[in-house]
Amino acid sequence: MHKYDYKDHLNSLISSYKRDNSVLEINFKELLPELKIKERYTHSIHSYPSKLIAHIPNYFINNTLLSKEGDTVLDPFCGSGTVLLEAKLANRKSIGIDINPLSCLISKVKTYDYQDSKLLDLVNDVRLANSRKMSIGKFDVRNLAYWYSTDAIRNLSKIGSIIREVPASPEKDLLLLSFSKTARIFSFADPRISVPVRINPDKFPKGSRLFNYYSNRLKWISDNDPFEFFINSIESDIHRIQTLVTHKGNIPLIIQDDFITTDELDNTKVQLIITSPPYNGAQKYVRSTFLNLGWTDLCSSKDLLSLNMNTIGRESNFSNFIEYNFGIKEIDCSLENIKKVSKDRWKLSASYLYDMMLSMKKIYDLLIDDGFAVIILGNSRVVGTEFLTSDYIYLLAKQIGFKTHLRINDDIKSWGLMTKRNKTASVINSEQILLLQKG
Ligand SMILES: C[S@@+](CC[C@H](N)C(=O)[O-])C[C@H]1O[C@@H](n2cnc3c(N)ncnc32)[C@H](O)[C@@H]1O
Repeated sequence: MHKYDYKDHLNSLISSYKRDNSVLEINFKELLPELKIKERYTHSIHSYPSKLIAHIPNYFINNTLLSKEGDTVLDPFCGSGTVLLEAKLANRKSIGIDINPLSCLISKVKTYDYQDSKLLDLVNDVRLANSRKMSIGKFDVRNLAYWYSTDAIRNLSKIGSIIREVPASPEKDLLLLSFSKTARIFSFADPRISVPVRINPDKFPKGSRLFNYYSNRLKWISDNDPFEFFINSIESDIHRIQTLVTHKGNIPLIIQDDFITTDELDNTKVQLIITSPPYNGAQKYVRSTFLNLGWTDLCSSKDLLSLNMNTIGRESNFSNFIEYNFGIKEIDCSLENIKKVSKDRWKLSASYLYDMMLSMKKIYDLLIDDGFAVIILGNSRVVGTEFLTSDYIYLLAKQIGFKTHLRINDDIKSWGLMTKRNKTASVINSEQILLLQKG
């Protein structure tokens, strides 16, 4: 396959969809095997729930059928900035929006043009600050004593206090990002699950695999020094950032706001939108990130509630819920069926679709005439049956006026998108991609 423009390939997919009008099966990891994501620039600088595999934005951004160099790509749910980094690498301008401040921090550091000279002294400056006597501040992390040992609280508070003294700057953002990772890894939260769950080896038979794994985790926390881990993180993050040296230019505009209500884009039109919006109740972005948000002063424990209130796909907080008739048989029937089984799940699903309808309308308005949108979605299970998110968004897009050029199904082999939920829901294992054009 041609390395930098997948136009002919995409054209043939579009023709095939036009002919058969059925969802195509494509495995993007197999299609673009040369993309080794783990070592690809700054992609792995920080973990994030439901992170997109870079193959998908890479394929659609490097495609002159959809955009040219210098055009602007928007991701209205940018998460950890996967689309923004791929846009930068493909010489496109980009704009990212996310309601979650941690997501904006990761996106900024991932895509900024750092000057080497400013990074060189960073580790020494931090070491110097650590050797000085200083007053140690308090950090607003919910249930701090439940999630951390007394030693970890003391050591992390010292690191946080050092960072508080650094003036606001891209370098401070880098320190905050390394600190965010340090704060999570020194917590008692299970590293294998994105929503914090306190580990407890005693829940498993002595000598079993999980007993040993969790016992070793506890030992690792007490044997290691958060400050040294923090320093190592900064060094490896600088190393990742230095791989971007040949891709300077096109620093994205990153906006921390609610996409549905933001007026920051009032005078903006873009050529291409690529986004993986939240799933229905599938990822708890605020619960997954509250430890990081608290330690980095990005969100106080009091403000977590209002952050969650406006997060699409949330599992609770439906005080402003309004019943809405979508006028689309498949959606209205599905919601009726869910309502018969669980009022809570109905509110969750109806609010999700309502928010997504508003988002899709805004996506339509923000595109230039004939502009393209690539929407990556996963189905999920609600009250025991499949919730066909991609079908519903496809129908909503059609109602809004979008033309559909392509529907692709990609089996998810990456654990980044996998998420275990409660008993009324289950694991997402494939995602669908819609290629839409403003009509
Ligand atoms: C599936 S994730 C995006 C992941 C991203 N593509 C990546 O690779 O990291 C969806 C994102 O939507 C954000 N989100 C949820 N509700 C939002 C809203 N109302 N406005 C803007 N962003 C929102 C969440 O915070 C989350 O980061």
